[in-house]
Amino acid sequence: MRNNTYNRKVDMSTKTVEISLLEKEEQNGYMAAVRAHNDAFAERNGFRRTAFVLTLGCQQNESDSEKISGMAQAMGYDLTDTPDDAYLIVVNTCAIREHAEKRALSLVGQYKHVKAKRPETIIAVCGCMTAQEHRVKQLKNSYPYVDILFGTSQLHRFPEFLAEKIAKGKRVLRSDEPENTVPEDMPVRRESNYRAWVSAMYGCNNFCSYCIVPYVRGRERSRRKEQIVKEVRELVAQGYNDITLLGQNVNSYGKDLGADYDFADLLAEIDKIEGDYLLHFMTSHPKDATHKLIDVMAQGTHIAHHFHLPMQSGSDAVLKAMNRRYDFARYVSIVDYIREKMPDATITSDIIVGFPGETEEDFEATLTALGRARFDMVYSFIYSPRKGTPAAEMEQVPDEIKSARFERLLDRQNEISLENNKKLEGQTLRVLCDGKSKNKSEAINGRTDGGRIVFFNGDESMTGKFINVKITRSETFALYGEII
Ligand code: SAH
Ligand code: SF4
Ligand code: F3S
Repeated sequence: MRNNTYNRKVDMSTKTVEISLLEKEEQNGYMAAVRAHNDAFAERNGFRRTAFVLTLGCQQNESDSEKISGMAQAMGYDLTDTPDDAYLIVVNTCAIREHAEKRALSLVGQYKHVKAKRPETIIAVCGCMTAQEHRVKQLKNSYPYVDILFGTSQLHRFPEFLAEKIAKGKRVLRSDEPENTVPEDMPVRRESNYRAWVSAMYGCNNFCSYCIVPYVRGRERSRRKEQIVKEVRELVAQGYNDITLLGQNVNSYGKDLGADYDFADLLAEIDKIEGDYLLHFMTSHPKDATHKLIDVMAQGTHIAHHFHLPMQSGSDAVLKAMNRRYDFARYVSIVDYIREKMPDATITSDIIVGFPGETEEDFEATLTALGRARFDMVYSFIYSPRKGTPAAEMEQVPDEIKSARFERLLDRQNEISLENNKKLEGQTLRVLCDGKSKNKSEAINGRTDGGRIVFFNGDESMTGKFINVKITRSETFALYGEII
């Protein structure tokens, strides 16, 4: 296998490669070939072949799936949300924690039955899990009914792989070709008609010692500013009003381009686009959270006053072992600056408990840090060793201790989230309506600029619209209110 994830000396100098026009034309040719194959089927049978795309990862993964769905449609498939009657199944995997990989493998296992019923169904597995050599081997050997395998950098070549499978019938296993690509102008089928993801950059260079992302997503590579601004402008013109710029370390945007603009400049430029829309971005790394960025947010017209700023731990020793490149004092100084410039800002974070070597004292430092930072919401995770990362080789914290700390962390953060939410009672907040809630089937819900869920007395006709809601009651994870 060429230059793949493990045993690989990471080359940080790799240059960003924008997909060339020639390559795009080549892929368009493959798309046309698959389309002809599917058109002929529809002609014979009176219905179209269907495709089912399953997303198992983060927002980047969802964004990739929207491109996969877009390509599938362009290749003449009708999209379906049930795998059972699909002629093409694409599983877009995640590898961030063991649970994510287990889930992916178990689902792929289930699709064996679909294939048994309809042998012509093509099963493709892609995404972060399949960018790892050991998983590729495992899928290759133990899941013989998987027809196509590709990694995150070959997304734009999906038409080629599919055309090859259709033409030759043999398995197409192509996750061994890392490319530092930046795909542009791909067909996209967006899940929503008012919320949209826009990739600002791909990859990550940070190598936090617990994290698999830099190995499975490659080096940081930014899209050109003009391309991003153009995409956002088109989305706003189409009526999208909730746009999120994506990147694993989105605020390091531009560094690889050697350009004279940075992420703050990109935000400021997008903010000039006129219209009634809200601009979010995620995820920011504290080391790249500059005063300039916070000033641009505070002065902006469309930029949500929401900062998702993963802290990971409140202990300086653990932060150092994690290779996070900041200490708690530096972290909290950013939080203070955000609050000074945007007193209404929502600040959310990620925390890992049970990182190797984390002592009771380290963990208590995290609890104390929660009390100091007073996050509105925290996504907390039990540390999960990832093969090939430095932390997986360190001395591990026993599972029972990890679980007990996790519970204590949740308890402490829930108190803080509730206290913060209580302060919103009586206030009028702008809420972007999402229609009926998936869990509380009858209730209409939406999200505040900072991402808090609000249930209110609206109706489905408000879906996708900004509504002013007066908050009457708050809970730890939700607010309740009435339309003003
Ligand atoms: N790029 C973002 C998010 C990466 S993944 C960032 O740097 O913040 C989202 C979250 O998953 C991380 O913030 C971290 O809290 C968690 N995470 C990553 N690797 C993990 C692991 N091995 N075990 C447990 N949680 C992990
Ligand atoms: Fe992973 Fe760290 Fe990169 Fe985030 S910044 S994706 S946690 S390596
Ligand atoms: Fe998972 Fe890959 Fe996202 S590992 S969290 S899908 S970048």
